[in-house]
Amino acid sequence: MSFFKRTIKDIPIDRKTVLVRADYNVPLNKKGEISDDLRIRASLPTISYLLKHSAKVVIMSHLGRPEGRDASQSLEPIAVRLSELLQKPVIFVEDCIGDKVVQAVKKAPNGSVILLENLRYYPEEEANDEVFAEKIAKSTGARYFVQDGFGVVHRAHASTDAITHYIPSVSGLLLEREYVTIAGAMEHPKRPLVAVMGGAKVSDKITVIERLVDVADKIIIGGAMANTFLTYKGHHMGSSMVEPGQEPVLDGIYQAAHKKLDTSIDEFIILPTDVAVAAEVSEAATRKNVKLGNLNETDRALDIGDATIERAAEEVSKAKMVIWNGTLGYAELPEFAHGSARLALTLATNPEIDSIIGGGDTADFVLKWDGNGGESFTHVSTGGGASLELMAGKKLPGVESLLDAPR
Ligand code: ADP
Ligand code: 3PG
Ligand code: MG
Repeated sequence: MSFFKRTIKDIPIDRKTVLVRADYNVPLNKKGEISDDLRIRASLPTISYLLKHSAKVVIMSHLGRPEGRDASQSLEPIAVRLSELLQKPVIFVEDCIGDKVVQAVKKAPNGSVILLENLRYYPEEEANDEVFAEKIAKSTGARYFVQDGFGVVHRAHASTDAITHYIPSVSGLLLEREYVTIAGAMEHPKRPLVAVMGGAKVSDKITVIERLVDVADKIIIGGAMANTFLTYKGHHMGSSMVEPGQEPVLDGIYQAAHKKLDTSIDEFIILPTDVAVAAEVSEAATRKNVKLGNLNETDRALDIGDATIERAAEEVSKAKMVIWNGTLGYAELPEFAHGSARLALTLATNPEIDSIIGGGDTADFVLKWDGNGGESFTHVSTGGGASLELMAGKKLPGVESLLDAPR
């Protein structure tokens, strides 16, 4: 699949000042240290490409959801990490508009990397404010704008939408790769395509599941999401996390599945036949395997069960392409990460299966699991909401706003 937007490869960027929007909204631990740098590493190909062309690279991003200036949400630690990864200095500017930016950009020679302070220190960013966007454009004096923050292109903000009214705007290499991989998998999947959906809530992922009913050859449901499906099917789930009020949605999903297939819906939407339970969610909890129908009042289903894990691994190993979004259990606790770990192992040891992994918690899990920085999989997406919206077939404002690809 080719990309419908112009990219940095289509423009003459040599020795130009280029403004890049990255998504450096990375998780920080209690000490304020970066606990996962996937989004920073994923931004390197575009930056390196621009540097190879002797461009002056000015990067902007948001971090968290601060209300005004908030030192705990500063991008300064990101500049340090980026500098380590690039093995060259990164100039950090304590603002994203105004004189500090003007001076820093003016002073820096071509081939420099400059990172601006958190865009969301200004409410104008999320308000998609034109005046704010124009100030960013003028302060940086950028000749081109490059959108490479895939994780944030589902937002229509000043740095994803309004900015494109002031500078010719193209896609970076990460955005292109994410888009082509994810949209390509939904539009022209390799078959059999097995979708594995898990995580906490059905309501977060309804439109994706609805589209997968059309697109996928099998859908395996795990995680707390499975508890909601199983309750809908009349199973007693004890004290498990079940999302209330989802009956109409699940009615719709099963009706669509019936329209697609005459028989054996349960072979198409595959639900657990057993679960791993504990009485509480804690480090001390140990897993107990229980068949459906045998859960006590106090049992919480925190992972898919052993027989279900075998079944899921078998289905997945028959696939040519697997889309996985949402952990199959409470994977923060190793005792309830068996399902997710087995799925990761199956994908990592079968490189002939195209594996496309999305979702913040799921990406976190596979990166911690993988000794290989995520390289054991075909694609680990840097997008949470953005990857879900793309899978659901929605238009992304931060992509739509870019220049169309040349014919
Ligand atoms: P992602 O961020 O990958 O899209 P979600 O946010 O939808 O995934 O879901 C991940 C969360 O769901 C994790 O915090 C995980 O602990 C939780 N979860 C998964 N399975 C269960 C379960 N059976 N019971 C309770 N929480 C669960
Ligand atoms: C994300 O982490 O999903 C993106 O960076 C967008 O952040 P937001 O949900 O705060 O807009
Ligand atoms: Mg999540």
